Amino acid sequence: MSDLTDDEQQLIAAARGAIANAHAPYSNFAVGAALRMTDGSILTGSNFENASYGLSLCAETVAIAAANAQGRLRDIAAIAVTGGPMGAASSDVITPCGRCRQIIKEAQDMAGRDLTILCAAPVGEAVRRFDLDFLLPEAFGPANLGIG
Ligand code: THU
Repeated sequence: MSDLTDDEQQLIAAARGAIANAHAPYSNFAVGAALRMTDGSILTGSNFENASYGLSLCAETVAIAAANAQGRLRDIAAIAVTGGPMGAASSDVITPCGRCRQIIKEAQDMAGRDLTILCAAPVGEAVRRFDLDFLLPEAFGPANLGIG
């Protein structure tokens, strides 16, 4: 994608950097995520697996939970995600899993504005830009429970 802003390229670079911190000895699939906050700062997350397999945490979820832990859940403006098989230098884009889409929905609704979701390949130029309505149409969210 050639229409990326400098900010977006920087965010993708941060997500790529977060791949290195993945704890993914079970799947050997390393994922990094980076959040652009409204003050311009960046928070990152990496997937965090454990021996139960099914209870693993995705990179996007870890990043958004980190923002919440800092009292900044409402301050997320954009998210970048990237990942692939460890050591493979993948040039494929990945998109957030279903659970992460719901968690991004929570962050977006609490922010009160649309979040940009950048899905980038670990290596090379492939990047796709999404909004959440496309990734999670007709979503259930806080408004259905009278929140937000
Ligand atoms: N994973 C993420 O971190 N984010 C996603 O959106 C998709 C999958 C992780 C979970 C697991 O640790 C590994 O990738 C393989 O599924």
